[in-house]
Amino acid sequence: MILGIESSCDDSSVALMKLGTFELKFYKKITQENEHSKYGGVVPELAARLHAAALPRLIEEIKPYFSDIKAIAVTNEPGLSVSLISGVSVAKSLSVALNLPIIAVNHLIGHIYSLFLGNEPVFPLGVLLVSGGHTLVLNIDENGVISILATTSDDSFGESFDKVAKMMDLGYPGGEVIQNLAKSGDKNRFKFSVPLKYDKRLEYSFSGLKNQVRVQIANLGDLSEQDISDVAACFEETAVNHIIDKLEKIFDKFEFKNFGVVGGASANLNLRNKLEKLCSKFGSNLLYAPLKFCSDNAAMIARAGATKFKNGEFEDALTMQIHPRSNLELIRLK
Ligand code: KG4
Ligand code: ZN
Repeated sequence: MILGIESSCDDSSVALMKLGTFELKFYKKITQENEHSKYGGVVPELAARLHAAALPRLIEEIKPYFSDIKAIAVTNEPGLSVSLISGVSVAKSLSVALNLPIIAVNHLIGHIYSLFLGNEPVFPLGVLLVSGGHTLVLNIDENGVISILATTSDDSFGESFDKVAKMMDLGYPGGEVIQNLAKSGDKNRFKFSVPLKYDKRLEYSFSGLKNQVRVQIANLGDLSEQDISDVAACFEETAVNHIIDKLEKIFDKFEFKNFGVVGGASANLNLRNKLEKLCSKFGSNLLYAPLKFCSDNAAMIARAGATKFKNGEFEDALTMQIHPRSNLELIRLK
């Protein structure tokens, strides 16, 4: 089995996966959402302290499987440095103590592999990656070589949900809260404009939309429950329309036989509905990760690590580094 460890942001997670069949034998995640909620975002120092408490507890649970582990895969980029260090330190110690090879996994590659939990990857593939830290449209060719077709020039899609939730004191993370409130809101009440709609660049931007929402909230003054739901509905609709508007232009230029959507914000149902329509219009096969594995988790890290294990891509535990930022275009996915 391969052991996967994920701690790049505010989730501590461990998974054990069979190397031959990719069958998940153990999976657990300890999330820090409640602890960060009152601050409206992740507090790095608090995240590091909570990882330091959670990871040993997770390792304790997999002790009975130690003799079956053949390698350790750990997220070493990108992410919060103090969070990455927590998981990487645990992985390095286990690697040295148990004499096991260590594999470095890029968190974003992990999200892409969440599409292939339990089955073989399909390439070529288009990918929309929407998380708290990233908004990316990628093309992955038949050799697993990645090119970035679009990214955001400021906030990410998920982050914009978090910031809008913070403006209305709805806690952190904001994605699911906003989605749930939007269900009882009137998405036509406020006219937020779709960012960069008449701009030819294949690029995303969410900070202008965030400001439109901020001004609207200030104009409303004391918010009623209905106001909050209406703001949530109008914001969500506009943010999703922005994603789809640019994607439609990308689909006009590139042909995707398969198109996958990954990352924590890929759980958004409004986004999923509109992606389904887009993919059926262009004849693309739409792939999702299982809902449970859309947000950060160690199962996707173990799965990505399993491919690197097959390719013999190991690191030296004593010198392996973390990288808070990463360059996806330098990574091959196969
Ligand atoms: O992938 P993830 O767990 O962590 C990062 O790698 O960033 O993504 C978390 C992000 C948060 O910003 C959260 O608000 C967002 O995903 N998210 C959503 C939804 N569920 C989670 N955004 C929109 N709609 C959702 N249903
Ligand atoms: Zn993530």
